[in-house]
Amino acid sequence: MIKKVAIEELQPGMHIERFDCGWLDHPFIFNSKRIKSEGEIERLKDWGVTHVYIEDGHNPPPVPVKIERERPPPPVVAFEHIVTPQTARVDRELRHIPIRHEIVRAQKVRQRASQAAKNILADVRAGKKIQTREAETAVGELDNSICHNKDALFLLMRLRKKDEYTFDHSVSVGVLLLAFCRAMGFDQETTRTIGLGGLLHDVGKMAVPLSILNKPGSLNDDEFKKIQQHVIYCKEILATTHNISLPVAQIAMEHHERFDGSGYPHGLSGESISLGGQMAAITDVFDALTSDRCYRTGIDQVEVLRKLYGWSRNHFNEELVHRFIRCIGVYPAGTLVQLESGLLGVVVESTDNLLRPVVRLIYDTRHDWAVSQKDIDLSKPHGKGGEDRIIGYESAKRWRINPLKVLGIT
Ligand SMILES: [Fe+2]
Repeated sequence: MIKKVAIEELQPGMHIERFDCGWLDHPFIFNSKRIKSEGEIERLKDWGVTHVYIEDGHNPPPVPVKIERERPPPPVVAFEHIVTPQTARVDRELRHIPIRHEIVRAQKVRQRASQAAKNILADVRAGKKIQTREAETAVGELDNSICHNKDALFLLMRLRKKDEYTFDHSVSVGVLLLAFCRAMGFDQETTRTIGLGGLLHDVGKMAVPLSILNKPGSLNDDEFKKIQQHVIYCKEILATTHNISLPVAQIAMEHHERFDGSGYPHGLSGESISLGGQMAAITDVFDALTSDRCYRTGIDQVEVLRKLYGWSRNHFNEELVHRFIRCIGVYPAGTLVQLESGLLGVVVESTDNLLRPVVRLIYDTRHDWAVSQKDIDLSKPHGKGGEDRIIGYESAKRWRINPLKVLGIT
């Protein structure tokens, strides 16, 4: 018999038949699994899972668990084969200005893009036509900043207000798509077209009642169908907008389609989804899961990259997911990491080596004391910072550390 149990009743050894939440709202690749450790239960709690369904009477007695602090899973490294001299060169070009210089400009650019997104969405809500000029200017400025140093805008994406999700999400998907396109080596025109698609991808949500959009609890079937309708509304809104090219409309229409045909509204699969639509699906899920929402807190970027990697065999184009992870970095800027030496630090920016970014040291876990802050470049040779290495990422929430504050961004 299937029984619903609270997460507090779950024990290692039990077999979860299914979760009491959507596929995107739990940390595992499959919807059923045997729980192997207390750490896995902690991860479920971190993701806000409150109940699961187990097969009652068929669970073996709980296995003894060694009590120790949870060690986060190892980084995703299997995609390293896609790093070619060409992708490494393109990545280097996307950080040719130091982040400390670009961050100030990026803050202003992001603010203007956010205002443009607000104006567009307010116009749509009021039934007015979209004026694309302000959006195009914002996309151009965001693209310029990414070409200086993509990590600056990536870092700022972590600065979010819960009640401004729709605006922030539109800008973030635009930023992610611009960086993704640049990392793929696309030309400026293609990049900015796809970036504009990112900024406009959710305009249809303005036709969905706010009571459903901002509902803190889970949605019933009827409400979920109304949310799904936003892609159809997108098509209708963009069809009446001047100067909207086909790739932009495709991004809005296809960002909820899935490579294996499991998405909506049309259940398109494989290459019948446009390239922009496939890329938008990846960036949309990445940003949605890493953001705080009215019904749950955001998940660490590293966790979400792991999850995307797991889904890349079915829901998304595998090659594109690999390229996206390469673009964001295994340890994105702002991630809290633990080093082999026992030191704890925040990733400042990426380097040529995916696993060896620049890290700002803040704490010594072996002695349990704060250390004077200092940046080390783990990609440098021994004696210049390269003697240490990252052994895993840490939850900033669990350590009660604000990575942005450490990096001087508030
Ligand atoms: Fe959407």
